[in-house]
Amino acid sequence: MSQSAPCSTTRLPLARPDLSSHEREQVREVLHSDRLSRGPALRAFEAAMADRCSTAHAVAVSSGTAALHCIVAALDLEPGAEVLTTPFSFVASSNALLYEDLRPRFVDVDPGTYNLDVGRVADALTPATEAILAVDVFGVPADWPALTALAEKHDLALIDDACEAVGASVQGHPIGTWGDAAGFGFYPNKQITTGEGGCITTDDADLARHCRALRNQGRTPDGRMRHDRLGYNYRLDEMSAALGCAQLDRLDALLDRRAAVAEMYREALAPLADDVVRPGRPADVGRSWFVYVVRLRDHFGPGARDQLMDRLQARGVGCAPYFPAIHLQPYYRDRFGFAPGDFPVCEAASARTLALPFFGDMGRGDVTRVAEALAEILPTLPRSS
Ligand SMILES: Cc1ncc(COP(=O)(O)O)c(C=O)c1O
Repeated sequence: MSQSAPCSTTRLPLARPDLSSHEREQVREVLHSDRLSRGPALRAFEAAMADRCSTAHAVAVSSGTAALHCIVAALDLEPGAEVLTTPFSFVASSNALLYEDLRPRFVDVDPGTYNLDVGRVADALTPATEAILAVDVFGVPADWPALTALAEKHDLALIDDACEAVGASVQGHPIGTWGDAAGFGFYPNKQITTGEGGCITTDDADLARHCRALRNQGRTPDGRMRHDRLGYNYRLDEMSAALGCAQLDRLDALLDRRAAVAEMYREALAPLADDVVRPGRPADVGRSWFVYVVRLRDHFGPGARDQLMDRLQARGVGCAPYFPAIHLQPYYRDRFGFAPGDFPVCEAASARTLALPFFGDMGRGDVTRVAEALAEILPTLPRSS
């Protein structure tokens, strides 16, 4: 673990994977085998994910986006049907709906947690609504008990975009068990990584079978090269699966380290509480720290967040806007006519939030360096008049 003193010349990345020598060795072993795809590591990774998420099935795929796409496709919703979802997410969560000709119907978020506001979801239901896709933003679970009750009452499919939330839980039930199915992502900025990779978890045997076919060009499981539906190549290779197994073995330790870094940040940023605040978390959830996001308070003027990011980056401190609102992305504006003001809670958060460097082996010196940079830059930023 790096405990180095702050050093302004080295770049502090936004994220960095935490890989052990054992994990590298596991990947090397696969490379020395004759099975590089659809082999024992894939089966072991799926068994471990199902076990960790307490689900009957897990289907590993090539990305979080692929996981979401398979779930959406396997649910067989009517083309053109509405799916209620959040505009405050990574664009992949609603792109997965567009791949299947579904209509993302955005609903504004809770100002405390930035997760879907379930009261607004209930108000947004129409006869064309067939599903809800909620996201566990930054590893904080959405309000799954309320979403489950709503979905049951109105006979809606319920999808969890859990790409940021491996290891999280609600009322003691792991993320992965909530809804009809959950999609996880294991890009290298995530709590555990497979390089590129993802996984679907579900208790629904038909849905799992369907997802298995979709990831392999719609092939039937009878080994006869028969393709009875349109599918994709969303397979996860053996090197990635072996890395996933070993990372998943260490998930609790990795999450503990991330939580310890978050605690260091909380202490280091406490003197800046008049200027920056971090998103909240409901009481009965176990969060899985994905990113460390702070929000500039309302006394800062427009453009202050972007100036802050430019100046942090100039000092070698990685940072990123988390998240740009999906409905204001050029493609969504052009296609659906969304405009500023459509989802004000999301937009206010998007304009003022930024993710700071965050990874398990950050030392106290690294956190201090970020806090000192913030303390110097914040007083110089434009204020609202
Ligand atoms: C909320 C959310 N959904 C979906 C994805 C897509 O995952 P991937 O990049 O593995 O396709 C991500 C990844 O960053 C994400 O954060």
